[in-house]
Amino acid sequence: MTAKSLEDIVALCKRRGFIFQNAEIYGGLQGVYDYGPLGVELKNNLKAAWWRSNVYERDDILGLDTAILGHRKLFFYSGHEDTFSDLMVDCRACKHRWREDQLQDGKCEHCGSKDLTPPRAFNMMFKANIGPIEDAEHFVYLRPETAQGIFSNFKNILDSSSQKLPFGVAQIGKAFRNEITPRNFIFRVREFEQMELEYFVKPGEDEKWHSTWVELRFNWWKMQGLSEKNLKLFEQPQKELAHYAKKTVDILYRFPHGFEELEGIANRTDYDLGSHTRAQAEFNLSSKVKSNADSISKLAILDLETNKWWVPYVIEPSAGVDRGVLALLNEAYTEEKLADGKTRIVLKLKPALAPIKVAVIPLARNNEQIVGKAQQLRKMIQAWGLGRVSYEDTGNIGKSYRRHDEIGTPFCLTVDFETIGEDPQKTAHRDTVTVRDRDTLKQERIALSQLETYLREKLQK
Ligand code: GAP
Repeated sequence: MTAKSLEDIVALCKRRGFIFQNAEIYGGLQGVYDYGPLGVELKNNLKAAWWRSNVYERDDILGLDTAILGHRKLFFYSGHEDTFSDLMVDCRACKHRWREDQLQDGKCEHCGSKDLTPPRAFNMMFKANIGPIEDAEHFVYLRPETAQGIFSNFKNILDSSSQKLPFGVAQIGKAFRNEITPRNFIFRVREFEQMELEYFVKPGEDEKWHSTWVELRFNWWKMQGLSEKNLKLFEQPQKELAHYAKKTVDILYRFPHGFEELEGIANRTDYDLGSHTRAQAEFNLSSKVKSNADSISKLAILDLETNKWWVPYVIEPSAGVDRGVLALLNEAYTEEKLADGKTRIVLKLKPALAPIKVAVIPLARNNEQIVGKAQQLRKMIQAWGLGRVSYEDTGNIGKSYRRHDEIGTPFCLTVDFETIGEDPQKTAHRDTVTVRDRDTLKQERIALSQLETYLREKLQK
């Protein structure tokens, strides 16, 4: 069962410390959110899962981390300065501003008036001044996609590592868009993170690789716990394609507000590498540098077998981290009726993604031996490197279970009198703990000597 509404998720995120409105104490910055102690763990786990499957588990993909501040020329020649715009309209009646394509029947969402200004293009890139002089010339863009950092480093990567086609470069990082109407919590925001992969292939093999990546990425999201019924593919119509794309297939997820894009897989052709190569020729000429083929960074690769230069085509799976977090929260949010008539809220996240893996709870907080053993156990499990382990000492075991159900902790371990050998009836239980499973609510006694193997196996899922 998924969440009832976006409000359920927003409330849980605030209550338990996943996500907060940015600068809330000053009324909040619209379209900007902060990740709390649990949100940062969930987000990091999602990014780590992506990095593992795209970089560590493959021989043909390298990682990269490029700057957020973007050279103006980079975003001029990428086409963003001219075309990265949405059409904006103003309501003459109430003065609210909207993105034209998001309005129903051409009516203002605030007051319902149809008296709107003609649409105007609004460039979504943020500018920032650079250096001590503040004028129209000295500015940079905050990158609207991480991809351009990969294209502009193409030659550096080739020169410093031997690659042949096909190969890819992966990057996770912040992107910024001055969205006209940020909405639906972290779904459409002005500052967000992307997990982007530029996979370089031989022209002619691009369509085959495009289909391969669509399938790989669709299956990857299923492996993170999103159910197939909540996912679907959507091929963007020609008129909606980004300026660089020949074909784009989106992976849509059923968010609380409906099916919307979670990730796009674009065939960017040789648009970017070609454009940045031509741009350098133009740049060298205009700055009167002696121009010849060698002074230009040819963003191409030499095929040693044929001795031919290829400007590779690029297949780009580009996923939003924040949209991924929202999809995972939505999918995992479950309300269950218990036998006693009460409702339990539980986040059924995959153990590998859960912010806290294990909570260690002492049954009696006044018993020094139990407390000591529980603290020692927390340290020991933390050292196994399975992820975050928490020590929970509220004095109310029911309350601790409820909190850990709501934040998706897969296992709660209780240290009790039997663990320390103080129950004369159950001396055989010395050095065992009870392990409570979040999803089945079953409790079993596990020997401390078996605990690492037990947890390691279960938490990998
Ligand atoms: N480099 C290609 C690119 O940026 P995109 O479809 O504009 O393509 C890729 O963005 C992904 O980034 C989207 O599928 C979405 O998950 C995420 N994204 C885009 N704009 C966003 C926004 N304003 N807020 C949150 N996520 C966003």
